[in-house]
Amino acid sequence: TAGAAEFVPEGADLAALRRAAAGCRGCELYEPATQTVFGSGPQDARLVLVGEQPGDVEDRQGEPFVGPAGRLLDKALDEADLAREGVYLTNAVKHFKFVPAERGKRRIHKTPSRGEVVACLPWLHAELARIRPALVVCLGATAAKAVLGASFKVTECRGRVERVEDHDVIATVHPSAVLRAPDRDEAYRGFLADLRAVRAHLN
Ligand code: URA
Ligand code: SF4
Repeated sequence: TAGAAEFVPEGADLAALRRAAAGCRGCELYEPATQTVFGSGPQDARLVLVGEQPGDVEDRQGEPFVGPAGRLLDKALDEADLAREGVYLTNAVKHFKFVPAERGKRRIHKTPSRGEVVACLPWLHAELARIRPALVVCLGATAAKAVLGASFKVTECRGRVERVEDHDVIATVHPSAVLRAPDRDEAYRGFLADLRAVRAHLN
């Protein structure tokens, strides 16, 4: 498959992009997933947050960041004085990639391949072109590599402002990584510090 480009309508607003993305077959991930999970939030948002891909809960509900990672993100946004309603939330990849658990009905998240990220990028580029935010925040390595290039290292460059094309970009860790961290409190403090830098940059 040739990627999402042929599915992206020209000159469309966010609502039309979302409708078109529901029918995307730009890579093989659409097939086992329940639905496309497009970005969500106001078209005039000054801040866009980019995650990796929808998780199990998002795949069922059709909205980004409504599962456990989303709850942690909500708390951190609130503590950093960033209102979620004013933020546009999206993902580098718009379909949930998973493998079935060996037993039971659980579905285990799988990291998308570089090819899948590249296939899906036309959607993210279209979202950013419509919104023209003051700042893009990449949550985790997949989003950071999608926006800042495959050689970008979040661990070395997190929390500082980068410039790509006409966007200011800050990369930080993924909220799921905070949930999985051996020292969750410390990981959360680091995540919050990065979001406070985001808040300061928006002033
Ligand atoms: N993790 C992500 O990267 N995105 C979501 O929408 C949910 C969990
Ligand atoms: Fe299209 Fe992206 Fe879904 Fe692949 S993951 S089918 S490119 S929306």
